[in-house]
Amino acid sequence: MSTQIRWGVVGPGRIAEKVVEDFAVVDGARAVAVASRSQARADDFAARHGLDRAYGSYKEILADPDVDVLYVATPHPQHHAIALAALRAGKALLVEKSFTATTPGAAEVIDLARETGVFVMEAMWTRFQPAVVAMRELIADGAIGEVRSVQADLGVTREYDPADRLFDLALGGGALLDLGVYVVSFAQMLLGTPERVVAAGSLFPSGADAEAALLLDYADGRTATLTTSLRNALPGQARVFGTAGWIDVLPRFHHPETIVLHRAGADPETITRPPLGAGYSHELIAVTEGVREGRQESDVMPLADTLAVQRLLNDAAEQLGVRHAEDPAVLT
Ligand SMILES: NC(=O)c1ccc[n+]([C@@H]2O[C@H](COP(=O)([O-])OP(=O)(O)OC[C@H]3O[C@@H](n4cnc5c(N)ncnc54)[C@H](OP(=O)(O)O)[C@@H]3O)[C@@H](O)[C@H]2O)c1
Repeated sequence: MSTQIRWGVVGPGRIAEKVVEDFAVVDGARAVAVASRSQARADDFAARHGLDRAYGSYKEILADPDVDVLYVATPHPQHHAIALAALRAGKALLVEKSFTATTPGAAEVIDLARETGVFVMEAMWTRFQPAVVAMRELIADGAIGEVRSVQADLGVTREYDPADRLFDLALGGGALLDLGVYVVSFAQMLLGTPERVVAAGSLFPSGADAEAALLLDYADGRTATLTTSLRNALPGQARVFGTAGWIDVLPRFHHPETIVLHRAGADPETITRPPLGAGYSHELIAVTEGVREGRQESDVMPLADTLAVQRLLNDAAEQLGVRHAEDPAVLT
């Protein structure tokens, strides 16, 4: 492996356009290649972002010996087959959220990661934001006592378009996998894995979930109350309540700059920690360092948390009548 970690982008869509820009602020890492299902789209992306190589199929980038890590930015059901093939090819992975479309799909990728010893991480960029890191340090120092409950919401208004990946079940559509993953992963980070989830919500005509409210029950009085929607905007606020105070994570909490600490009996303290670049840099740094140091996973976004979050999301989706499936054909 060269001293510089060489990255490849798979699926040059909307988010890949943004994430690739953040390599400019990451030391020791460079995006060198891109793979699209279309040679023209790959060429265009590579030209605009200064990448060396452009592939018109995903299989070709898997065979490039001069790529160390792949950033997988396809829709959710297309992550699974690409991730498995990449691990077999010895490529480390940053896989966009939601990690997969199904719980067995996530388990299969994680099992193979552990078997091959290759670094894999879900691109849950929230956990790496400096303001969230500061919040976790305060909580670990006992600033709000024992965490008893979490509230979080994340929702956007999107005009219904059955062909868009947000609404098309074959592309993993629905609020839960797209935005619900943020509120669930946030609760998982602070409270661990709940005993059960109770979900209420509604569906779009495509069968994808439009909105959902989740109650996470930890069976010892601890709870999380979470809301997500593609039908209407929500502020994107999170609150963490402890026995000695609470912390507000100001909107939008999935990439916040500011938290407000309310210690019991004291004036609120405002803490601002802006991200580096657009905020994707921090997850890129975590993966780059993990790969360079020969680690297999991240302590901040561990694979066990990814699996627990995936299970909870699929469980909640099934309570609403939504069943997701992986797309094994993406590499054919
Ligand atoms: N971290 C964040 O802030 C953030 C924000 C938005 C989305 N995301 C995540 O990133 C992933 C992609 O989201 P996006 O909004 O960028 O999606 P998008 O704009 O639709 O792009 C996805 C790309 O995947 C490729 N692809 C492969 N198989 C496909 C298929 N069967 N149908 C459609 N496209 C397919 C396409 O590129 P080619 O055909 O050119 O290969 C497409 O451009 C999702 O997992 C999403 O949850 C993360």
